[in-house]
Amino acid sequence: MKKDPRSITLVDQRRFIGEIAEAYTGERFAAASSIQEDLAAILAKVSDDPLLELGAGGGVVLELLRKAGRSAWGVEVVDEMILQARRRGVKGMIQADGCDLPFPDARFALITLWGNTLGPIPGRDNRLRLLRESSRVLRPDGWLAVTALNRFAGPRRMLKQQEFSFRFQLQSGRWSSLSGYNRYYTRGQLKRELREGGFSRFRIQSGFTDYMHILLAGK
Ligand SMILES: C[S@@+](CC[C@H](N)C(=O)[O-])C[C@H]1O[C@@H](n2cnc3c(N)ncnc32)[C@H](O)[C@@H]1O
Repeated sequence: MKKDPRSITLVDQRRFIGEIAEAYTGERFAAASSIQEDLAAILAKVSDDPLLELGAGGGVVLELLRKAGRSAWGVEVVDEMILQARRRGVKGMIQADGCDLPFPDARFALITLWGNTLGPIPGRDNRLRLLRESSRVLRPDGWLAVTALNRFAGPRRMLKQQEFSFRFQLQSGRWSSLSGYNRYYTRGQLKRELREGGFSRFRIQSGFTDYMHILLAGK
């Protein structure tokens, strides 16, 4: 049975992520070429280093950033995801909570919050803590590249997202009560959350009906 989203806690969410870590990471690495396409447009806009991939999961985005020759680090909180990254030989992963980052103020030129990391975090306060901490470690002229599910995506694109989610759950054998738990944003809702999290400049990277918003946010 599906759980009421309002009753899901950070502990529930992190347990679920641990359970699906291996299958999720496999699917993400299989999709690496399409991720690379979207990332390339962002990397072309931000030429300075260092970079941070926040909520790095099994490390696919971090690996792409490093393969692009950039100086990049990844932060991930769930043990099983760190293990997946280690198994795949991804370098630069740090285990930490993104709400309490082990970096000084204004350290990074670009922070990626990629692959639907923000939306599924339960509780607006928890999402805002993560955004405010990203804003703290971002340079004043830096950018946060954030992706989030688009509420107005066309049905075909929505299906693509659902199919991805079903595939990794089938493979992991963990049909969690959290399986359908996702947050779909209008562009306005996403910007409002980012503003509350300390961001005020925006550049839109993806079209109105794409299944993910891709937004660059600056302080
Ligand atoms: C949907 S996955 C995306 C992984 C990766 N960015 C990608 O594109 O494949 C989101 C990841 O963010 C991590 N995460 C969520 N909240 C976090 C926090 N406060 N600190 C560090 N990692 C966090 C989760 O554990 C999960 O591995």
